[in-house]
Amino acid sequence: MEGSNQSRRKFLGNTAKAGLAFTTLASVPDYLAAKNHASVYSPDATGFDQDPLPYAYNALEPVIDAQTMELHYSKHAASYAKNLKEAAQAEKIDTSKPLEDVLKNVSKFSPKVRNNGGGHYNHELFWKSMKAGGEGKPSGKLLSAIESTFGSFDAFKTKFGDAGKNRFGSGWAWLLVGADKKLAIGSTPNQDNPLMDVSEIKGYPLLGLDVWEHAYYLKYQNRRPDYIEAWWKVVNWDFVQGRFEKM
Ligand SMILES: [Fe+2]
Repeated sequence: MEGSNQSRRKFLGNTAKAGLAFTTLASVPDYLAAKNHASVYSPDATGFDQDPLPYAYNALEPVIDAQTMELHYSKHAASYAKNLKEAAQAEKIDTSKPLEDVLKNVSKFSPKVRNNGGGHYNHELFWKSMKAGGEGKPSGKLLSAIESTFGSFDAFKTKFGDAGKNRFGSGWAWLLVGADKKLAIGSTPNQDNPLMDVSEIKGYPLLGLDVWEHAYYLKYQNRRPDYIEAWWKVVNWDFVQGRFEKM
């Protein structure tokens, strides 16, 4: 499997050939520069290893407490990545290719691949979708698309929040671009996501919210709606906009 440094070198080399300025690339975070997989789903395709958390465990306090963040990243999410790699080896999955390629055909693999492949993908996206001091709302093309699809940004937040609140048991709420190229909101159970061929909602996920109890229980206990309401403060809308505009 190609390592991050090797990927980064290839990425830099390819970009240099394309005539782009190296000075611009120097500001690209490692976790993005390492992504050099071609994929129909995403220019930032996902590998099988955990990327470094892009901030400290306590960076999103008080919305997400440090203990929850550490357990979530270093225990829960780490075990999805570990179990995914075990399953990939057993089922002869080529881990040099994007994980998205597995997810779109996940019905052909075992439940272990579905649960841990989804778990790994969803969390890799989740960490990058947050930051300290989030912008509060998107701007540009994404804001326009949200307003024209859902009526207003507040109406979008209500509908997305409801998707999270009403997901029975464990799962995720999503903002996605559907096959019709339109924005949509939905939710998936367990660690499923809209990339999967088994999912009721299908498309390219822009933003996902983890509503498993392990994401919030230490701080919010049973108050999932409070967690969702607070979470908007740490959404990294720059990142979400980037996914939308690169499509
Ligand atoms: Fe989680």
